[in-house]
Amino acid sequence: MERSMPTVKEELGQEAAKVEAWLAGCLEGRGIPPRLREAMDYSLRAGGKRLRPVLCLTFAALCGARDEDVTPFAGAFELIHTYSLIHDDLPAMDDDDLRRGKPSNHKVFGEARAILAGDGLLTEAFACMFAVKVPAERVLAAARLLAEAAGAGGMVGGQDLDMEYTGAARVSPEQLAAMHAMKTGALIRAACECGAVLAGADEERVRRARDFGAHVGAAFQIVDDILDVVGDEKEIGKPVGSDAEQGKHTWPSLVGLERSRCLAEERVAAALDALSPFRGPRADFLRRLARYIVERVQ
Ligand code: IPE
Ligand code: IPE
Ligand code: MG
Ligand code: MG
Ligand code: MG
Repeated sequence: MERSMPTVKEELGQEAAKVEAWLAGCLEGRGIPPRLREAMDYSLRAGGKRLRPVLCLTFAALCGARDEDVTPFAGAFELIHTYSLIHDDLPAMDDDDLRRGKPSNHKVFGEARAILAGDGLLTEAFACMFAVKVPAERVLAAARLLAEAAGAGGMVGGQDLDMEYTGAARVSPEQLAAMHAMKTGALIRAACECGAVLAGADEERVRRARDFGAHVGAAFQIVDDILDVVGDEKEIGKPVGSDAEQGKHTWPSLVGLERSRCLAEERVAAALDALSPFRGPRADFLRRLARYIVERVQ
């Protein structure tokens, strides 16, 4: 009997399983106090699409590295992403009570420990990323990219702008795009770029990985904003309507749902363009993955 082709969601799940196994053991033996460890594991092991580590692994494979050699670096992206979600949900930030289908970290462990769980995940990520089996100069280059993407000129800076714009009378499309490129785009872009760098790819391939990631990252946040309006709480595992409630400026609030969908599609088309020289099954998977991002809100 012919087996049916897996959906892209199933493919993503299969790739994510490679990271899931690593995540299960990455905090072992680090001397973390039990309650803090519980809080870190609570969010880390709550599921999530694992998009960033999968992008990192896939670009590394496309450029010639073995999955097992770069998995700790790919996994570090998930530790950092998870920390950003814990802090993003805090009452002082988006004040959201549901994350990955469960009560947000601070609802279970309290604000102080949720802050520390985030701090712990961020810092442990750096310990993990130096455990990869690739030449040291590649690890150093990739670690710098990741630190810059996660830092004050990247994700953290984007979160600051998001906060500053919240409730502001007007935000221009340029400001919104720049804020998204930092708060969401930077980490997704770095995941792709670091995969290529860790594999020792040439400059042209690294640039294309970076461009693909930047466009996918932009499309991803546009879709996230659309899902905050039209999504299903059960499916997305977080509250719907949170952005409007907080007075956030988003693409749907600025240009409407239809135009937002078009903007996301344009960014996916640009991402596919960046990918054009890459061949083989892993490249085709990336093409399906990029399209899947916008198909979620078609
Ligand atoms: C949510 O990211 C936060 C954004 C940057 C938009 P994801 O949609 O990747 O969340 P998980 O990891 O699957 O929970
Ligand atoms: C968050 O953007 C981006 C992060 C850096 C965590 P959102 O605030 O829109 O993410 P969600 O919708 O809460 O996942
Ligand atoms: Mg937020
Ligand atoms: Mg939020
Ligand atoms: Mg959102």
